[in-house]
Order: sequence, then structure tokens, then C-alpha cells
Amino acid sequence: METYLALTSVWGVYLTAVVFFAGMGLRIYQWATTPRSPVPFGLFPKPATRAGRVAAMLRDTLVAPHSAKIEPRMWAFAMLFHVAALAAFVGHLRLVQECPVLPDLLGAEGMNAFAAWAGGIAGTLMMVATLYWIARRTFGPFKALSVPEDYLLLGLLLGVIVMGNHMRFFGDVHAAEYRAWFQSLLAFKPHIPEEILASNVGWSLGTHMLFVDALLIYFPFSKLVHTIGSFAANLTRSE
Ligand code: HEM
Repeated sequence: METYLALTSVWGVYLTAVVFFAGMGLRIYQWATTPRSPVPFGLFPKPATRAGRVAAMLRDTLVAPHSAKIEPRMWAFAMLFHVAALAAFVGHLRLVQECPVLPDLLGAEGMNAFAAWAGGIAGTLMMVATLYWIARRTFGPFKALSVPEDYLLLGLLLGVIVMGNHMRFFGDVHAAEYRAWFQSLLAFKPHIPEEILASNVGWSLGTHMLFVDALLIYFPFSKLVHTIGSFAANLTRSE
């Protein structure tokens, strides 16, 4: 188990960080140096003020009203997924630093209960949305439009989420131990606490991180890069 965690959750994380940041740097460089199109892609009708254009750009990026019109059910699951993913992301920040306000308000037990509920709900919603996307591409008309990359990305995402949920629902390790591991990575003094090694979810953490590593290494080169690219694209449209 120690070797598996060292590979996936220590050295794998460092390798992932190098590939992810270098890949994103390359992407941003490519976007920044692509010559401007002579064809205007601006909004129509164009909002009169710059603030109006930025508001329209943010609405297009964050709410995607065009998708809502074209495929409302997929849009609803996408909104559900992204809100839940944002909540899970905020929860993951506890791995870097404990939230300064909530534990004071709720107490240690209250904070654990809150994290269990919030993380559990976010993880379940993300899993339901991902299963819907897989089903949508496996049965029905979207199967014909799907390519292997679609299934690969959804499979990686499902792997990350299922293993995260396994730790969340079946684990007996608290945030403090996960934080000790993650902070040790940030300090470049990697160390996996005994509580994790001896727990029932050491393998799930290793597999969660194996899927996270694969997903983030692939991210800059995959269509998921739209998460960041859509801001740039919609900024062009807002000009
Ligand atoms: C550096 C990257 C990541 C690290 C170190 C990490 C670590 C963890 C840990 C330690 C847990 C267990 C929390 C607990 O039970 O107290 C967890 C849960 C979870 N993770 Fe991650 N994770 C990472 C990235 C991701 C990504 C990219 C996703 C989704 C795309 C994700 C989705 C989840 C979900 C859904 C859960 C269960 C619900 C929750 O506790 O939030 N994780 N993760």
C-alpha cells in the first residue's frame, strides 16, 4: 500500500503538476499568439456599454443559455454537476488550509458532520450527472456523435468521483490526516500519515489520485480545456 500511495499520491502528483502547468502554459501561449480573425465574432445585438458586454460574456460562460434552449435536460445536469463540483472544490480547499470560520462556529464535531453532508451531497450529484452523461452517449442519438475521447474523459471523471465518494461514505479518516499528507506534498517533504496507511481507505485515496493524475495530465490536451478557454472565447465575443 505504501508503494501504491507513493506512486499515485506523491510522485504521481508532482508529475501531474509539471505536465498540467506546462500544458496549460502552452495552451495559453497558443491562444494569445493566434492571429485575430478578420471576421467579427461579437455579440449581436451588441450591448451598448463595456459593462453590459462583460455581463453578457459572464452569462454566456456561466449559465450557457444557448445550451438550455437546445438540450434542456443535458443543460440541467450540467448545471447540477458544475454547482456540485464548485462545492466539492471549496471542500477540497480544506486539504490546503482549514477554513477559518466554520470550525469556530460549528465546533469540531459539527464541522465533521457538515463536511460529511456537504461532501456527500456534492459527490452524489456529481456521480448522478456523470452517469447521465455516460448513458446519454451510450443509448440514443448522441451515440452516433460520440468519439472514444468522450468515453475516456467520462470514465476518468467517474473513477475520480466514485473513489472520492468511497472515502467520503466509507472512510474513517478525517480531514486533518488528509491535510497532513497534502501539506507535506506542498512543502516538498512528502509523508503519508500512519492513520491513512492503516485505514480502510488507503487504496481508495491511491485510486482517487491515480484517476485525478490521469485526468489532469490529459486536461490541457483534451476538450475539457474549454473550462478555461470559454472565458477567452466569450471575451472575444464581448468585444
Ligand atoms: C489534487 C487533487 C485532489 C486531491 C488531493 C483530492 C483528495 C480528496 C480527498 C482526500 C477526499 C476525501 C475527503 C474526505 O472524505 O474527507 C476527496 C473526496 C472527493 N473528491 Fe477529491 N481530490 C482531488 C481532486 C479531485 C477532482 C479533480 C475531483 C472531481 C473532478 C474530485 C472529486 C472528489 C469527490 C466527488 C469526493 C467526495 C466528496 C467530497 O468529499 O467532496 N477530487 N478528494
